[in-house]
Amino acid sequence: MAQRTLEVSHLNTSFFTERGEVKAVQDVSISVGKGQVVGIVGESGCGKSMIARSVMGLVKKPGKIVSGSITLEGKELTSLSEKELCKVRGRDVSMVFQEPMTSLNPTMRVGKQVQEVIAIHESLPKEEARRRTLEMLSAVGIPEVEARYSAYPHELSGGLRQRVMIAMAMVMRPRLLIADEPTTALDATVETQIIALLKQLAKDGTSVLIISHNLGVIAQLADYVYVMYAGRIVEKGSVFELFDNPSHPYTHGLLGAVSSLRSQTKVLQTIPGVVPNLAHLPAGCSFAPRCKECMAKCGSEQPKLITVNSEHEVCCHLIEGADEL
Ligand SMILES: Nc1ncnc2c1ncn2[C@@H]1O[C@H](COP(=O)(O)OP(=O)(O)OP(=O)(O)O)[C@@H](O)[C@H]1O
Ligand SMILES: [Mg+2]
Repeated sequence: MAQRTLEVSHLNTSFFTERGEVKAVQDVSISVGKGQVVGIVGESGCGKSMIARSVMGLVKKPGKIVSGSITLEGKELTSLSEKELCKVRGRDVSMVFQEPMTSLNPTMRVGKQVQEVIAIHESLPKEEARRRTLEMLSAVGIPEVEARYSAYPHELSGGLRQRVMIAMAMVMRPRLLIADEPTTALDATVETQIIALLKQLAKDGTSVLIISHNLGVIAQLADYVYVMYAGRIVEKGSVFELFDNPSHPYTHGLLGAVSSLRSQTKVLQTIPGVVPNLAHLPAGCSFAPRCKECMAKCGSEQPKLITVNSEHEVCCHLIEGADEL
C-alpha cells in the first residue's frame, strides 16, 4: 500500500485538571492519503481541534498526548523535540486555526506575516521571499496583491483574511494542511470560494484534513469522513457511503438536523441532550444517554468498530446486534 501522508493510530490526548482527567481524544485512528481530503465532523467540544493540535504538537499544559502514534509520511512526530517540531510545523504540516482574528498579528502587514513563515524555514534573499509571498497571495485568490501585501489584517474582509491564513499555511508547500473550521466565520458566498480553493490545493497534491461541525462543508469537500462524539470516532466512511447510508444513531441525528434546516443556515442543529462531561464519561457508549435506540448493554459496554462494508465502519451495538441476527 502506498505510504499515507498522515497516519494517526490509537491516539489518546487528555487534560489533567484539578477535577480529574479530561479525555479529549480517545483511541482515535485517522488516515489521510496524498491529495486526499479527509473530514472530521462532530458537535462542539467533541475533541476535533485537539486531534489537530496533537498532530501539530501544540497541545498545551495541562493537556498531553498520553499514548498513540502520529506519523507524517512515515516519520513519527510524537517523539520529536520541540526544536524538531518547529522545523516540521509550517514546512511539512501546517494548520489554519479556528480563530482567524487571533491567529493574525494585528500590528503587522499581512504580506510580512506570510514572508515571516518563509524566513523561519529558509534563508532566502528578501526580494525572492517577497516574490514568493506575492505569488502565494495571488494563488489563494487575493486580488491586487501588491496593495494587499501592505495591508493590516483589520483592513481586509473576513474572506480575504482567511485567504491570508491559508497563504501562510501553504507558502512552504506542506504535505498536509489542517483546516480547523476554515469557513465558520464567513458568509455563504465566501465559504463557497474557500471550499473551491481547498479543493484546488488537494488537486495539486496537498493532503487536507478538514475539521468542521458543518456537514454541508464536509459533504462538498471531503472524500472520506470521520464522525466524532465525546472524544471518539463513532463512524467513518467514504463521503458517499456515510451520507447515503449512515449507520450510527448520532450520524443520523446530525444528518437529520441538516436536512431539517435545508441550506438556510447549514449549521448543525441540536440533537436532544448534551455532549457528556469528558471528565466523567459513561461506562458504555458515550452517546447512550441521548440515543433513541439505546439498549441495555449500551450503558455498560463500549461498542467496538464494526465493518459495514469495505468503505464504511461504525461503532454501535445496534449494528453488532444486526450482524448476529
Ligand atoms: N485547557 C483545557 N483544559 C481542560 N479541558 C480542555 C481544555 N481544552 C480543551 N479541553 C477539553 O477538550 C475537549 C475537546 O475540545 P476541542 O477544542 O477539541 O473541541 P472541538 O470539537 O474542536 O469543539 P469546537 O467545535 O467547539 O471547536 C473539550 O470538550 C474540553 O472538555
Ligand atoms: Mg474546535
